[in-house]
Amino acid sequence: MRHLLTVADLTSAEIERIFAITEDLKTKFQQGLREPLLPGRVMALLFEKQSLRTRVSFEAAMIHLGGSSLFLGSEVGFGRRESLADFGRVLSEYVDVVVVRANRHQTVVDLAKHASCSIVNGLTDFSHPCQALADLYTLREMFGTLKGRTLAWVGDANNVARSLALACGKVGMKFRMATPAKYQFGQEARQWIREQVPELDIAVTTDPVAVVRDADVVYTDVWVSMGQEAERQIRRLDFGPYQVNSALMSHAPKSALFMHCLPAHRGEEVTDEVIDGPQSIVLRQASNRLHVQKGILVWLLGAKS
Ligand code: CP
Ligand code: NVA
Repeated sequence: MRHLLTVADLTSAEIERIFAITEDLKTKFQQGLREPLLPGRVMALLFEKQSLRTRVSFEAAMIHLGGSSLFLGSEVGFGRRESLADFGRVLSEYVDVVVVRANRHQTVVDLAKHASCSIVNGLTDFSHPCQALADLYTLREMFGTLKGRTLAWVGDANNVARSLALACGKVGMKFRMATPAKYQFGQEARQWIREQVPELDIAVTTDPVAVVRDADVVYTDVWVSMGQEAERQIRRLDFGPYQVNSALMSHAPKSALFMHCLPAHRGEEVTDEVIDGPQSIVLRQASNRLHVQKGILVWLLGAKS
């Protein structure tokens, strides 16, 4: 029984395996086939924060695979009625996998410690592994191979950035990051990333133009993540020069792609002309969440260990 809490939980070979399952299921889906590989399996979704993509793509994925999904609302009293350990132990008796979106990463770590079913991180303040997997799967479709490609991150050193850095390391992509000095990964985060993916080629700067110059992909995310709303004003000021707009994209190769995990705050981290422009692949990214969730579910629930 395996969990997926961060990308570091997966080896490069396991990522490739998830991508292979995804590719097979996506091809069949496009031919009108929905293979019921997980009949009778049950997935619970436990969300402390809002979600469109993660919630709906996981639910639809499980339904396409012949299983069922249960969205657990506030009446289950998660974090309020009983200890997290009791909650995790009991829920595991009913379901095969729980997708959790939590305010604090420690919540998914603690749940995984006590659960006897698989726990999947559907986003925490620390990491968003399912997003990073879908993103690299999308790039694999676009480029054929990932090794040696360069992803330029422009923006906050947040959950998505951390997950992409790990994922890039696992598949041999270079990770370039332009972030205001006070928002860059701290010493502890840098050390953790180095330990998880010593092979990662990473460079961090404060200069967005410098990172997009050699980019195969320019990626950004919101300046104010869920839970950081109190910092909204100061973040909007600090990240102003980091907007991905046509002027910044003019420094990138013409072939560079634009990505965003969504939801976007248009007019803040990205302009309409970039996100709706010809280099943008944000819809394909979002669409692939469905297919990669299937790859993750089939890999996890079929995995023997
Ligand atoms: N990208 C992403 O995880 O979107 P949601 O917050 O809508 O799930
Ligand atoms: N960094 C964003 C990602 C949303 C999918 C957040 O945590 O709100």
